[in-house]
Amino acid sequence: MKTKVAIVGAGPAGLLLGHRLRAEGIDVVVVERASADYVLGRIRAGVLEKTTVDLVEQVGLDARLKSEGLLHAGFNLSDGDRLIRIDLQDLVGQQVTVYGQTELTRDLMDAAPERGLEIHYEASDVAIHDHHTDRPYVTFVSAEGREERIDAEFVCGCDGFHGVSRKAMAAAGRSYERVYPFGWLGILSDVPPCNEELIYSNHANGFALASMRSTTRSRYYIQVPVTEDINDWPDERLWDELALRLGPGAAANMQRGPAIEKSIAPLRSFVFEPMREGRLLLVGDSAHIVPPTGAKGLNLAASDVHYASTALIAYFRKGDSDAVDEYSRKALARVWKSERFSWSLTNLMHRFPEDSAFEREMQRAELDYIASSRAAQTTIAENYVGLPL
Ligand code: APR
Ligand code: PHB
Repeated sequence: MKTKVAIVGAGPAGLLLGHRLRAEGIDVVVVERASADYVLGRIRAGVLEKTTVDLVEQVGLDARLKSEGLLHAGFNLSDGDRLIRIDLQDLVGQQVTVYGQTELTRDLMDAAPERGLEIHYEASDVAIHDHHTDRPYVTFVSAEGREERIDAEFVCGCDGFHGVSRKAMAAAGRSYERVYPFGWLGILSDVPPCNEELIYSNHANGFALASMRSTTRSRYYIQVPVTEDINDWPDERLWDELALRLGPGAAANMQRGPAIEKSIAPLRSFVFEPMREGRLLLVGDSAHIVPPTGAKGLNLAASDVHYASTALIAYFRKGDSDAVDEYSRKALARVWKSERFSWSLTNLMHRFPEDSAFEREMQRAELDYIASSRAAQTTIAENYVGLPL
C-alpha cells in the first residue's frame, strides 16, 4: 500500500486526525491493533472543551454531538459539606459539552467508510521503519494473516500509552512521570444523575466525582488505593460510599442502579519530549497522560490533532516543512499547561496517604480561598473550559 500519512492507532486521536486529513483530500491509512468493538468498549471521560467540539465540527461530524451532548455552564467543587460552584459561563463566557468519548469514537468510526478513511483493524506486529528518512513505512500482519506494508511520507503515532510509536523514538527522548498512590473506581449506571452539573468532592474518606453521560445515564468515581480489589466493592457498598463522600445534597438526589460497567483505573501524569523525530509525529496518549481530574485526556489529544493536521496540511499544500518542524514545540506548550492543571486539581481534591495534617490544612485553605475569590475561580474556569490553541 502507498499513502501520504500512515496512522498507527484508531482511538480518538487517530480517528480525528484521519478525518481532518481526509477532509483536505490527503490520503491516509490507519492500522489498529484491536477490533472496532474493543475500541468502543473502553469507557473514558466525557467532558469536551469548545476547541474539541470545534474540531469535530470542522470535519462535519458534529450532528449527534450537537443534538445529544449536554452543555454545562458550570461545575462544582465540594469539601464534603458545601458546594463551591465554578460558573464557567459567568467567569469566562464559555461552556463545556458533556458527551461520552465512546459516542464520539462511534461517530468517527461510523463515518470512516464514506469519507474514504481506510482502517485496518486487528493488525498485529505493527512496526515503524525508517522514520529518519523521507520514505518511512509501517509493516503489520493483517486480520487475515497477510504481511502488509504501508509506504508513506509521514507516520503519526496515535497508539496510546502502550503503543509502539513512542518506543520507536524513545532513545532520543526524555520522559517525565508522576504515578499517584491511588486509582479511581468507576461505575456506569442507567440512572438519572444526582446533580445537573458535575461534582468533584474532597472528603475525609477520599475523592469522589459525580458525572454523567446523559440525563438518564450516570458515571461516578471514588478514589481507592491502587492495591484495591474490585470484588470488595459490590454495587451497594459503592453507592453508600458515593453518597457519603459527595455530601448530603447529592446523596438525597442519588438514584441507585446496577452497574453497566465497573473498573479501577490507575492515575498517572506523563510527558514524553520531543513529540516528533524525523517523519514520525506522536499524537495523544502516546506522548502524554494526565490524571482524569479535569477530563483533559481526550481534549489534549484533540489539540495535538489540531497542531499536527495544520502542519501536515501546510506540508502537502505548499511543501512547507517549517510547521512540521514546529509541531513538537507548539503541542508541548499546551500539553504542559494541561498537565499542570490536571496535577493541581488532583492534588487539591484527593487524600494522599503520605500527607500530614499540614497538607490537609493547605487543601482546606485553598478550597476556602477558591470559595471566596473570583480571581481564583476564574483561573480554574479558564483551564477547565480549555486554554486557547
Ligand atoms: N498498533 C496499532 N494500534 C495500537 C498499537 C499498536 N502497536 N498499540 C495500541 N494501539 C491502539 C489501541 O488499541 C487504541 O485503540 O491505539 C489506540 C490508542 O487509543 P487511546 O489509548 O484511546 O489513545 P488516544 O487516541 O491518544 O486517546 C486520547 O482518549 O482514550 C482516551 O485516555 C485517552 O483520553 C485519552 C484520549
Ligand atoms: C467522566 O464523566 O467520566 C469524567 C468527567 C470528568 C472528569 C473525569 C471523568 O474529570
